[in-house]
Amino acid sequence: MIRSRLIFLLVFISLLGCAERDLKERGLVTDQAMVVSAHPLASAVGSSILRQGGNAIDAAIAVQFALAVVYPDAGNIGGGGFLVLRQQDGTLDALDYREKAPAAAHRNMYLNEEGEVIDGLSYKGHLAAGVPGTVDGMVQAHEKYGSMPWDKLVQPAIELAAKGFPLTSKEARKLNEQRADFITYNTKRPEFILQDHWREGDTLRLQHLAHTLERIRDKGRVGFYEGPTADLLVAEMKRGRGIITKADLASYRAVWRKPVTGQVGNYRIISMPPPSSGGIALIQLLTISEKYPLQDWGWNTVGSAHFMIEAERRVYADRAKHLGDPDFYDVPVEDLLDTAYISSRIKGLSLDKAADSDEISAGVPAPPESPNTTHYSIIDAQGNAVSVTTTLNSSFGSKVLVAGAGFLLNNEMDDFSVKPGFPNSYGLVGGEANAIRPGKRMLSSMTPTILEKDGELFMVVGSMGGSTIITTVYQIILNVTKHGFSMQGAINAGRFHHQWKPDWVLSEWGALGAGTGLELWLKGHRIAPKDGGIGRAAGILVLPNGKLEGGADPRGDDAAAGF
Ligand code: GLY
Repeated sequence: MIRSRLIFLLVFISLLGCAERDLKERGLVTDQAMVVSAHPLASAVGSSILRQGGNAIDAAIAVQFALAVVYPDAGNIGGGGFLVLRQQDGTLDALDYREKAPAAAHRNMYLNEEGEVIDGLSYKGHLAAGVPGTVDGMVQAHEKYGSMPWDKLVQPAIELAAKGFPLTSKEARKLNEQRADFITYNTKRPEFILQDHWREGDTLRLQHLAHTLERIRDKGRVGFYEGPTADLLVAEMKRGRGIITKADLASYRAVWRKPVTGQVGNYRIISMPPPSSGGIALIQLLTISEKYPLQDWGWNTVGSAHFMIEAERRVYADRAKHLGDPDFYDVPVEDLLDTAYISSRIKGLSLDKAADSDEISAGVPAPPESPNTTHYSIIDAQGNAVSVTTTLNSSFGSKVLVAGAGFLLNNEMDDFSVKPGFPNSYGLVGGEANAIRPGKRMLSSMTPTILEKDGELFMVVGSMGGSTIITTVYQIILNVTKHGFSMQGAINAGRFHHQWKPDWVLSEWGALGAGTGLELWLKGHRIAPKDGGIGRAAGILVLPNGKLEGGADPRGDDAAAGF
């Protein structure tokens, strides 16, 4: 006990005195339109589409395909995502292109004969992949809302893949770090390991991916879910003992859903409904926060941080119990968003003392690997806003590249509850609501969000980061609405995270200033530093004069572009 307290104290000492990032910095300001994404080349592609007169959905499609090339650790065609749309007239829509469990999946597929979880099976390799949803999602988004020809939206990604693009130092490092896994989990040597040590500025060319994108450009969904791409994917599955079949691919369809909304003070929160937990959890957190004087307490002071941690503890407990794919499980969305219910969740919340998340084993506080996923935010010149979070799950997904087709497969099956109460790679636990069933979508934390203020478009925001996505978006919104930060400052600001179980507060270096960490510890919170940052967000704020301010996350290579 004394030893562990000493370790925590050391952690605090190391947290003290870390520099605060600039909370007042202004991001790129433009007059009419903007794209913010995880990669400057993808943002440039989106901005170019908007300049050609494309709308926010056109730009979103082009950015999605461009990210699949230039940001292969999370950008994808072998994964899935969520898109939230607010049209200029206030009309809302949401597209769920989340992956699905293959037909041969079953609830105990990752357990051994003793009923224990087989380490890594849901996480790396062919069996970890769900049926990809991205291409059908993009096709459906284009059919319903697109204004430019489809081929013009896919073409920029083809050019990036065929001609190649220079690696940033972060991307080069990540490719090098993954080399061993790429060798282990692939049945044929993937393009990514042709070179054994990548350096900043090296050109990455992805010829197989370029040909797959050409098929998608020419044939739409058929170019991916049928014909040569499907043949290559299924052959890959057979070689690696995966279970995705041609029938799984042919039957995959993205689904249009009604966004969840919640009015919190002057702000209307518009976000993703189940199978994401993000929208509901975010609205719960912001509703609870409205009842406390966070503004007076100040940014990341002991008062506000303690309160936010306690709110997060309760909201993530709800997530574990109630949330799953609404097509398979009756998620009580309205009950969870009922203000009386939300108020009841904070009864007994002490402002003096940390609560105890029951039955916590000491556990490993941080996920074993940097959580991934990527978010992009877009506002077009007409005022249409799109918020998209897309993912392979962890960095480079399952690590499996479809040989001959050049794209990575997701490891999204790990987002199911592989065994009730057993933590996934993010330490999240779940139950029946998120158990594996054939054709079911796994629960997500992705939180693509749009805010209105007094009925007008105010902010487009979202983040990567697995289970930390929800608390990242929550903090960014509070940073702007309660603490008056700029969009860029709100994204720069240090973050912390609690998710009920394991009962730890993860904190970025410097997020909790001198004294705050120590006081939180004295209240009973267990705090662990999080190397590599928490979340990576992309936001756009509509300024009072109607101009747009972009917030591009300094934790990555993120960039805003627009005009
Ligand atoms: N795979 C991360 C998420 O969907 O939350």
